Amino acid sequence: MIVTRDDTLQIRVSDDVVKVRQEVRTRAIEIGLGLVDQTKIVTAASELARNTLDYGGGGTARLQIIQNGLRKGLRLTFEDKGPGIPDIDLALSDGYSTGSGLGLGLGGAKRLSNEFTITSIVGEGTRVSITRWK
Ligand SMILES: Nc1ncnc2c1ncn2[C@@H]1O[C@H](COP(=O)(O)OP(=O)(O)OP(=O)(O)O)[C@@H](O)[C@H]1O
Ligand SMILES: [Mg+2]
Repeated sequence: MIVTRDDTLQIRVSDDVVKVRQEVRTRAIEIGLGLVDQTKIVTAASELARNTLDYGGGGTARLQIIQNGLRKGLRLTFEDKGPGIPDIDLALSDGYSTGSGLGLGLGGAKRLSNEFTITSIVGEGTRVSITRWK
C-alpha cells in the first residue's frame, strides 16, 4: 500500500467540518468514486469530523489517497486529544449518545466504509480511521 497524497486539516470550529466535507468530496472525485460512493465517504467524514469537534474538543482530519496495486482508495483518520470513549461497543451501537445527537454517527460511519478502525484511550483521546476503496 502506498500513499500518493497526504493532507492534514485542523478541526476547531464548525466551519472546519464543512471544509473537511469539501476536501473529502474533491479527493473522492479524484480517485474516481461514483456519486453514491462519494456521498457515502463524505457523509461518514462529516459524522466523524462532528464527533471530533463536539466530543473530542477539536483535533485533526488526515486525508490520504492510497493505492494497493491498481486499486485506489481514500483513507481518512480523525484524531483528538479529548476524553476518550470508555465503551467503544456501546458508542458504536445505534441510538447511544452522551450528547444531544441521535447516536447514529459512529455506527453509520462504519457501515458507510469498507474499513473501519477505532482506538480510544480514556483521558488520552480517540482515533478513528475509515477507508473507501474504488
Ligand atoms: N471523538 C470522540 N471522543 C469522545 N467520545 C466520542 C467521540 N466520538 C463519539 N463519542 C461518543 O460516542 C457516542 C456516540 O457517537 P455517535 O456519533 O454515534 O452519536 P452522537 O454524536 O451522540 O449523535 P449523532 O452522531 O447521531 O448526532 C457519543 O455520544 C459520544 O459519547
Ligand atoms: Mg456523532
